[in-house]
Amino acid sequence: MSDASTVLAWYRRHRRDLPWRNSDDPYRIWLSEVMLQQTRVETVLPYYQGFLERFPTVEALAAAPLDEVLAAWSGLGYYRRARFLPRAAAAVVGRGGFPRSVAELRELPGIGEYTAAAVASIAFGVVSPVLDGNVERVLTRWRALAGDPKRGELRRKLLAAAAELLDSDAPGDSNQALMELGATICTPRRPNCGSCPLQSSCRALADGEPEAFPSPRPERPVVREDWVLALAADDAGRVLLFRRSDEEELLAGTWELPSARAGRRVAVELGETYGGRWELGELAGVVRHGITFRSLELSVRWARVSSAAGEVAEGPEAGWFAPLEIAALPHSAMVDKALVVAGLLSGSKPRRRPGCTSR
Ligand code: ADE
Ligand code: SF4
Repeated sequence: MSDASTVLAWYRRHRRDLPWRNSDDPYRIWLSEVMLQQTRVETVLPYYQGFLERFPTVEALAAAPLDEVLAAWSGLGYYRRARFLPRAAAAVVGRGGFPRSVAELRELPGIGEYTAAAVASIAFGVVSPVLDGNVERVLTRWRALAGDPKRGELRRKLLAAAAELLDSDAPGDSNQALMELGATICTPRRPNCGSCPLQSSCRALADGEPEAFPSPRPERPVVREDWVLALAADDAGRVLLFRRSDEEELLAGTWELPSARAGRRVAVELGETYGGRWELGELAGVVRHGITFRSLELSVRWARVSSAAGEVAEGPEAGWFAPLEIAALPHSAMVDKALVVAGLLSGSKPRRRPGCTSR
C-alpha cells in the first residue's frame, strides 16, 4: 500500500467522531474550519453546536446583526475571525451559494489560504493539500525537513510532501487524516510513533529524534514597554472603557482601559487618543502582562476625565461598566489584572486568554 492509502485507512478506523465530519454542508464545514484556526477541538465543540443553533444556515448568518454573532462567539478569542463571518455569509448568499474552487473561496472576506484549501477539499473534493500546524509537524518529521515551515523554501517542500500523502479520490479525508495524526499521534512532545501509520517510512523516527522537528523557531527578543493605564471610576463605581478598533492586529474589537506610553505626556496623549481632558491621580498599582514578544509593565493610575470622553465624533467607542459587567465583554486579561490591583475586583481567578501569557 502507498503511504497515502495507509494514512487514509488509519484515519477511517481511528478518526474522532466530530460533528462537522458528519456533514457535507459547506456552511458547517467552513464554520468549523474558521473556529478551529488557533483553537483546540475540545474548546470549539460547545461553541460550534451553540453557534449552529442560533445561525443554522448561511442565510441566517448573513442576516444576523454583528452584535449577535459576537455574542455567540464570546469566549473563543481572536474576534477578528467572528467579525468576518456575517460579511462572508452575505457574499455567499449574494452569489447564490458557496464557490467550489480554492481561488474563488479565497475571495470571500476572512478566508485565507488554509481555510480555502480545507473547505474546498472537505466540502467539494478538490485535490488541494492543507498545511496547518499539526500537518506541518507530521510532514517535517516524516521527511526530516529542517527550517522554518512558514518560509517559502520549506513551505514548497511541505506542500509537495502533503500532495504525496493526498489520496486524490478522498482529498478531504486525506487532509483531515494528517490533521488528526498531528493532533492525536504525532504530538509536539513524545509522539506515539508505535501507533503511527507512517512509522515504516518516517525519516525522523529512523534518525531517532522526532522531537527535533519542526526546527525551533528563532526566538524574537522580548521587548519591555512601560505603559500607563488610566482608571476613571464614576460615583457608582463604574469604570470607563474604550473599544479597540476592528482593524487592530491584536485584540481587535476588545474593550480596554485607556492607555498611553509612560512618560511626561500621558495626560495629553490620553486626550488625543480618547478625547476629553485627563488628569492623573495616585498610582493604584503596577501589573505585568506578556503579549506575543512584548513584556508590558503597566502602571495603573486613578484618573479623572472632564467632558464626554469618547463622544468625540471620530473617537473610539466608550462606555462605563461595573467591574462585574466586564466579564461579559470581550476584553484582555490586562483589564482584569488592573481592576484586581486597584481593588475593584477580587483576584481569585483571572481568565486565561489565548495569545496572552501572564508573567
Ligand atoms: N483542525 C482544523 N481543521 C480540522 C478538522 N477538520 N478536524 C480536526 N481538526 C482540525
Ligand atoms: Fe510522527 Fe512518529 Fe509518525 Fe514519524 S513515526 S510521523 S514522528 S508519529
